[in-house]
Amino acid sequence: MQDLQGKVAFITGAASGMGLGMARAFAAAGMKVMIGDIELAPAQKAADELNSKGLEAACVQVDVTKLESMQAAAEATIGTFGKVHIVSNNAGVAVGGYSESCSMRNWNWVVDVNLWGVVHGLQAFVPLIQAHGEGGHVVSTASMAGMVGLRGAGPYNATKFAVVGMMETFAADHRKHNIGASVLCPGIVATNIGNSARNRPEEYGGAVEPNERDATAEMLSKGLDPDIVGDLVLEAIQAEQLYIFTDPGLKHLVETRCSRIMDAYDWAANCESLAGVEQSGLLP
Ligand SMILES: NC(=O)c1ccc[n+]([C@@H]2O[C@H](COP(=O)([O-])OP(=O)(O)OC[C@H]3O[C@@H](n4cnc5c(N)ncnc54)[C@H](O)[C@@H]3O)[C@@H](O)[C@H]2O)c1
Repeated sequence: MQDLQGKVAFITGAASGMGLGMARAFAAAGMKVMIGDIELAPAQKAADELNSKGLEAACVQVDVTKLESMQAAAEATIGTFGKVHIVSNNAGVAVGGYSESCSMRNWNWVVDVNLWGVVHGLQAFVPLIQAHGEGGHVVSTASMAGMVGLRGAGPYNATKFAVVGMMETFAADHRKHNIGASVLCPGIVATNIGNSARNRPEEYGGAVEPNERDATAEMLSKGLDPDIVGDLVLEAIQAEQLYIFTDPGLKHLVETRCSRIMDAYDWAANCESLAGVEQSGLLP
């Protein structure tokens, strides 16, 4: 989508980190921005910051894990700005641990926010983009953890691979509807993701006090400025870029994965079990 002046964007997780970076970049480009977040006070602060610069922004409290909450946020966006063109499914939480031993509450939390949150965003907002026929763009935040398996992050990896797959399919399905698609796959970005549990709802175990001194927070503090990611996402939407990478220096990780997959095809082509078997070579 090239002409963004006056268009309307809805962003989840926009009270902090990369979502806030996107809100700043989108508003500075002349868009009207609805800031959605589970935490209302910082969402309001973000909207106030943009309004104080003469930019158009409003906020709504939304819990992406609940479809009804996302639908209410969609109604609020239409009620405030009339239409919606750009949707950023960005809210996410970090849960570390092995798939076999991560607590089921944490498994449910990371899947509900990182995966169902994106599904709910598509369900609540895409029909509204289709309804006005002016086109639009959906960008969902995955991670480099959606490109390669990261040690000790099984549940998080599972959600982010799912988001990459969903957005690849979405891009193919909606090209004909003039709705673009991107999947943001950041490396390390200096956000508050290391303290995701600061606002974890009771049903997933409740909130945990932020710890500024732990190793993850220390590593994240050296990451990329989230405002640069906001600018990058804006540029990618205008360039119709499907995959958005924040750290080109991590390309070798994907190359290694792809090369292992190619090796596995070569192995399959020569293995005993498939010898002489005729197949169509087609997929739906
Ligand atoms: N920071 C990184 O290094 C990094 C790397 C790769 C991917 N990501 C992804 O980037 C996205 C943005 O995270 P961030 O790094 O900016 O972290 P962040 O913690 O600074 O921002 C995430 C925002 O999501 C909100 N949120 C959490 N649960 C929510 C819910 N149920 N409903 C609505 N909002 C909710 C939080 O309140 C917060 O404002 C996430 O999807 C994350 O997985 C981050």
